[in-house]
Amino acid sequence: MGDHDNKVALVTGGAQGIGKGIVDVLSSEGAQICIADISEEHGIKAVTEIEKSGKKAIYIKANFENSEEPKKVIEECVSRLGNICILVNNVGIQPSTSYKNIEETSEEVWDAIINVNLKSYFLMSKYSIPFMRKNGQGAIVNIASVQGLQSQKLVPPYAASKGAVLSLTRQMSLDYIKENIRINAICPGTFNTPMVTNSISGNINENLKLFGKDIPMGRVGEPKEIGQVASFLCSEKASFISGEYIIVDGGIMAKGGWDTELQGE
Ligand SMILES: NC(=O)c1ccc[n+]([C@@H]2O[C@H](COP(=O)([O-])OP(=O)(O)OC[C@H]3O[C@@H](n4cnc5c(N)ncnc54)[C@H](O)[C@@H]3O)[C@@H](O)[C@H]2O)c1
Repeated sequence: MGDHDNKVALVTGGAQGIGKGIVDVLSSEGAQICIADISEEHGIKAVTEIEKSGKKAIYIKANFENSEEPKKVIEECVSRLGNICILVNNVGIQPSTSYKNIEETSEEVWDAIINVNLKSYFLMSKYSIPFMRKNGQGAIVNIASVQGLQSQKLVPPYAASKGAVLSLTRQMSLDYIKENIRINAICPGTFNTPMVTNSISGNINENLKLFGKDIPMGRVGEPKEIGQVASFLCSEKASFISGEYIIVDGGIMAKGGWDTELQGE
């Protein structure tokens, strides 16, 4: 028996990185998986891997920069898998060209980040909730970031999107709490995913080790470590948790700015 037997779980951006870590854990706990992702290559690869383990999964091609996609994705998921019980809004972008102050940030970059990282979360939730209501229960997990809680220089649209995901989570949780639809968020720290490794020039493993030195636990996170928390939040084990966020960051947010002992060891 798994925690998600007979459930249908939809994960946006589930083909790679943290989304793939979430998909793998939900599938291992019995969920039927729908991956909605822009990358056909990685989406099909992820589905094939799951099918090899004897579990069910489908891939739907979607570009969440486009606000017409969420409704179509939900409709296709329900028509192919018959339901939607769990939604993980995970898709997110932080293009290397976006590291600018607001004077230098173009409207195009701002809109792209807000559309993918925030508006798709609103629309995917909007169109999933009616199916959860029919089921008499549901769970939504929104992937935010530690950057929704604390800041660094030159990430205005990304940080704004992640802060907004946290307040949207709190808001939605109250609006649907009486209908047994629980809505929570996760704030990852630094993880070993294409978003991070694609931004590294030079030796990836050496650079990931360097990033790890600024993290109290001494390493970056692995996608499965978000998957385990997402799976917990969507399960009956979290039946009294809604409107909450869980920080999964190896201790970054626990460390005070004055603590130089753990920096750059
Ligand atoms: N990796 C980290 O260190 C980190 C830290 C904090 C928060 N996060 C958040 O976690 C989530 C996942 O991040 P990740 O590091 O796994 O990202 P990633 O870039 O490694 O993977 C993202 C996935 O989303 C897909 N995708 C990208 N743009 C898309 C679009 N427009 N439409 C549909 N699919 C699209 C990609 O094909 C890929 O499968 C994001 O919301 C990100 O902001 C990541």
